[in-house]
Amino acid sequence: MQTKSIGRQFMQATRVSRLEPSEQSRGLPQPPLELPYDGPGPRIDLPRPGALPLGRVDLIDVINARRSRRHYSPDPISLEELSFLLWCTQGVEEITSRPATLRPVPSAGARHAFETLLLVNRVAGLEPGLYRFIATTHQLGPLQTAPDPTGRLTAACRRQQMVPASAVTFIWVAVLARMRWRYGERGYRYLLLDAGHVCQNLYLAAEAIGGHACALGGFDDEALNRELGLDGEELFAVYLGALGKRLP
Ligand SMILES: Cc1cc2nc3c(=O)[nH]c(=O)nc-3n(C[C@H](O)[C@H](O)[C@H](O)COP(=O)(O)O)c2cc1C
Repeated sequence: MQTKSIGRQFMQATRVSRLEPSEQSRGLPQPPLELPYDGPGPRIDLPRPGALPLGRVDLIDVINARRSRRHYSPDPISLEELSFLLWCTQGVEEITSRPATLRPVPSAGARHAFETLLLVNRVAGLEPGLYRFIATTHQLGPLQTAPDPTGRLTAACRRQQMVPASAVTFIWVAVLARMRWRYGERGYRYLLLDAGHVCQNLYLAAEAIGGHACALGGFDDEALNRELGLDGEELFAVYLGALGKRLP
């Protein structure tokens, strides 16, 4: 008899009917809403997302304009624009009494199991390098990296040139424990579904600031996790989005 593919096994083993009692139902404590920031600091306060004079943008126009674009203007984006993009993708609007975070994107069970890392190439007022978005306080925390993070991450993304061309590349990292606590093995499905919502908001927000974005799922998992210091099992990169200003 032919062995079932790994994908079929996964889909079957993660059916709702096959789920084991979750950590939550067994009374285990909920993991924290956010990873602690333990980088070299200091933390950088981001401008309030409302500070950007966007004017009014027609949602239908933005949806119609959205395309994946991989070439960008050499102009930097501003810190206000970055703040707005972070807000649209993973900003924290509210911490409920459960506690859970509510954000502009939906998430299964409001688990919001991502941390956002940023590869900054051209953001006015920021040194190029790797940063983490500290969502609960709307701050950035610089991260320690080996030399040439852009070159190293580009290599891990199979040399896709939108990474070095981008003003900033968003890297969404899954914190498995946050999702697993409620959904066990099915949580893997929800992580992947959640990531789509986040990147879609990046695409739409990019259009709203006169930019373009492109999703990036074709990366070398081991290389990328290694470059980011992630163990690849409890913490792993799920999805990326490159972004820059439109070419004239
Ligand atoms: C899950 C996912 C992964 C993707 N990964 C890549 C990628 O690694 N490299 C790339 O150039 N485009 C990538 N894309 C962009 C698609 O190629 C693009 O959405 C598709 O060609 C349709 O074009 P459009 O987005 O302009 O409508 C990805 C898109 C999705 C949704």
